[in-house]
Amino acid sequence: MSESLILSIESSCDDSSIAITNIDTLELVYHKKISQELQHSVYGGVVPELAARLHVEALPKILEECKEYFPRLKAIAVTNAPGLSVTLMEGVTMAKALSLSLKLPLIAVNHLKGHIYSLFIEKDEVFPCTILLVSGGHTQIIEAKSHNDMKIIASTMDDSFGESFDKVSKMMKLGYPGGPIVQEKGLKGDENRFDFPVPLRQSPNIEFSYSGLKNAVRMQIEKLENQENELEEQDICDVCASFEKTAVAHIMQKLKKLFKTQGTPKNFAIVGGASANIRLRGEIEELCQKHNTKLFLSQLKYCSDNAAMIGRVAVQQYKQNDFTTIEDIDVQTRVKEFK
Ligand code: KG4
Ligand code: ZN
Repeated sequence: MSESLILSIESSCDDSSIAITNIDTLELVYHKKISQELQHSVYGGVVPELAARLHVEALPKILEECKEYFPRLKAIAVTNAPGLSVTLMEGVTMAKALSLSLKLPLIAVNHLKGHIYSLFIEKDEVFPCTILLVSGGHTQIIEAKSHNDMKIIASTMDDSFGESFDKVSKMMKLGYPGGPIVQEKGLKGDENRFDFPVPLRQSPNIEFSYSGLKNAVRMQIEKLENQENELEEQDICDVCASFEKTAVAHIMQKLKKLFKTQGTPKNFAIVGGASANIRLRGEIEELCQKHNTKLFLSQLKYCSDNAAMIGRVAVQQYKQNDFTTIEDIDVQTRVKEFK
């Protein structure tokens, strides 16, 4: 039997990635990602136009390596939402061209669903599952009953978890992406030196907010700068440690509330780029152990944006005949709910 493959493309932000997935065995036959972190680091965040330009260079280079698989392809999949419109457009344009020239159906994939399916790369799906999605653009709790039944039950009112790390890093000119940098500095810091307020502590609602914490950190940094002109390395590490402790405490407080009010979930998972955070992983592991909840984590290499997770969703959509057309596929910067 000849293999049936799907080619998937991811370009929703600053990672150019293409994967080839076997539809029948779920095997990840090919996967490559070119990250633009270094190029954006000098600006302290992603510059959309620069990102789009870098995708134009990187995607065709990766595609060149995939040509040998073309005869066995059954569909072309691409992230079309949510993300930066100018960068999503690059992936979608390439997907349309491939669909047209190779006469293959097109599959439009929701990037957030992709993060969820990062759990299931080369594996079968596990449902029902309560999922914490923490990335640069999102902080959400999703109740996933099946591929077609996913509901967002909590989200952030302003900044996301990952974004708050990026902003704290930028305030101290530490570079981008802020998550790994702040985490690293925090390991050398005193988490109890600064007492930042845990957001929405008194609120009975299960929702998130990071702008208040971000401002408290900013004020603390300004205070230190006024005292010392320039921040000492130890100050930076202490700010990072104290901030990370509070940022994670906010999520943990809301998760405990969720477990208490909605019942303990059978399965729980953390996905998204910021799910690489060691402290967050550790505290959630403890919570799940205590409640006898089975915890699923995606492999570290699949936490941040990648096409392998998009390909894994695409396999599911392929099996359900969930295709789109060159005329109908659109790029959306935001999505309110899962399709
Ligand atoms: O999922 P992702 O690669 O891109 C988006 O879809 O947003 O997530 C990137 C985000 C960035 O904000 C980055 O700072 C954050 O994930 N991140 C972390 C860690 N590693 C990456 N945040 C906290 N701790 C980390 N270890
Ligand atoms: Zn993402």
